Amino acid sequence: MMSSTGEENGIKHFNKWLGSFWWPEDRPNGLQIMNKVRVPFIKEAILENENRGPNDNLQGIKILDAGCGGGILAEDLARTGAQIVGIDMAEEVIKEAQTHLKLKSKELESSITYKLESIESHQEKNNGKYDAVVSSEVIEHIDVNEVEDFVKSCVEAVKPGGAVIITTVNKTFFAWWNLVVGAEYWSKRIPKGTHFYNRMVPAQTLIGYLEKSGCTIKYSKGFAFDFNVTRCDWSDNLDYFYAVFAVKNK
Ligand SMILES: C[S@@+](CC[C@H](N)C(=O)[O-])C[C@H]1O[C@@H](n2cnc3c(N)ncnc32)[C@H](O)[C@@H]1O
Repeated sequence: MMSSTGEENGIKHFNKWLGSFWWPEDRPNGLQIMNKVRVPFIKEAILENENRGPNDNLQGIKILDAGCGGGILAEDLARTGAQIVGIDMAEEVIKEAQTHLKLKSKELESSITYKLESIESHQEKNNGKYDAVVSSEVIEHIDVNEVEDFVKSCVEAVKPGGAVIITTVNKTFFAWWNLVVGAEYWSKRIPKGTHFYNRMVPAQTLIGYLEKSGCTIKYSKGFAFDFNVTRCDWSDNLDYFYAVFAVKNK
């Protein structure tokens, strides 16, 4: 069995987030706000990859959400018609995802399965199983020496010709200033010690790992936020949060 990515301190940190993933709808947090761009990005990429029309839905598409956290992305992806398997290595976080699904989004219960599992162990049992693998805001929390293996496992879990969509934070002064200084120390919207400059992932590094794992890059886009982080939109600038859509070579 392969060893797992997910350095212990990182997972411990997220276990302490218990109960903090979902903020009230009238005061959503950054991850909830980012769904406004993440979900259409992922939906459009998969529709294009599956040769479906732009107005179609993702009915019957199997998506792995690697590092699903409290299920903020998984739930909205399930609303597109897809079947979601969400995995995370933090036990308390998976419990929060399961509780939210049961209590707040019961109508999605048949569309989402959450598992406490590493990507490596899940991939070994589910090689090439998924139409798409998504990992959003996860690799910037992993030990830098483990990111390449994490990306490789994501690619191995997807079918040949399947979509791999990864969103993360670029390694720039701008990203560090906004996320660490701004969000963790100044506004305190994010718990201290969540992000570290040395873990942020340069776009070219991620693109290189995807290509080395046997993918062709389709396109990438940046995210832009307003000052108070109440709105999020696309940007051509990849200096902060960004998304990469790649396809596994056949
Ligand atoms: C910021 S949260 C993102 C949650 C979710 N993807 C979203 O966007 O709403 C990062 C999550 O990644 C998980 N994580 C970190 N390293 C991981 C690893 N190696 N394997 C699986 N999950 C991991 C953490 O436990 C945490 O729940």
